[in-house]
Amino acid sequence: MPDLDEELREKQEAFVRLLGYSVSLRSFRGVLIRIVQLISDPNSSAQDLADVVSTAPAIATRILGVVNSPYYGLTHEVTSLGHAIALMGFEELKKIALSVSIFDTFTSGERVYLAKLWRHSILCGIVSRILGEQLRCSPDEVFAGGLLHDVGKVLLCNFNPKAFRMALFNYQYESSRLSHHEVESRLLGINHAEIGAIAGKGWNLPGLMVEVIHKHHQKYPELPVIQIIQLANALCTNLGFPSVGPDKAVFSSRITEVVDKSLYSVLGLSKEDLELLWTPLDAGIRQAMEFFALFARE
Ligand SMILES: [Fe+2]
Ligand SMILES: [Fe+2]
Repeated sequence: MPDLDEELREKQEAFVRLLGYSVSLRSFRGVLIRIVQLISDPNSSAQDLADVVSTAPAIATRILGVVNSPYYGLTHEVTSLGHAIALMGFEELKKIALSVSIFDTFTSGERVYLAKLWRHSILCGIVSRILGEQLRCSPDEVFAGGLLHDVGKVLLCNFNPKAFRMALFNYQYESSRLSHHEVESRLLGINHAEIGAIAGKGWNLPGLMVEVIHKHHQKYPELPVIQIIQLANALCTNLGFPSVGPDKAVFSSRITEVVDKSLYSVLGLSKEDLELLWTPLDAGIRQAMEFFALFARE
């Protein structure tokens, strides 16, 4: 098992009982993990990304499919990753590569739940990136963190759909009293933040990424990256794109009524600041929904 801090070490037994060590930790090393490591490394280059992706022809083909879709409206067909980077830029390609590889890595869980989880995750990644750009926090780090924060739910849904469903059904009865991760802890002895962090450690994800996954439900986190992801998570959930449960949106025309004040004031944002952010956020959410449609499979 990976070298874990004390808090996570106590959860190791529950992790192995629910997911098994060999399946969840070993078999998902590979392109996805290398892409996440690359994206979180400020010294990586477009060529590094092209090299990693070209070792997985199925993913490279899907990336070219997305690049050539009407969404990007390119006038010439793009036939190589080098060409795609030249046309779209490294940043856009990072986004596509991470999203495609995530979608193609986890496919064995229940499709309806997985589709919802990835819609929430991609949206959260994109909203986090927009907030990161505005708040001078590395957009790459918050994008990767936003995409991965709920990876523990994805793992549970893939490897133990029975436990995933059990937690979900209990949450539907308890949602007025308990949050989803609290229901998981009571029922399974471990929650998705802990599951994701233990797996992330085993995959050798950067320390910051493991911390984001582990602490994304912690009250009053100190790291601005986690504060941004918590705000993005609440925005996505309350606007009708939760990771689990019914797609209920908070009905309000004012963004400041969609999320709790503590989530944005901790970032030094006033009500007026958040309202000003609504235009780029709204545009980003619309774009993300179109982007998401590129990955949804029939
Ligand atoms: Fe979560
Ligand atoms: Fe979430």
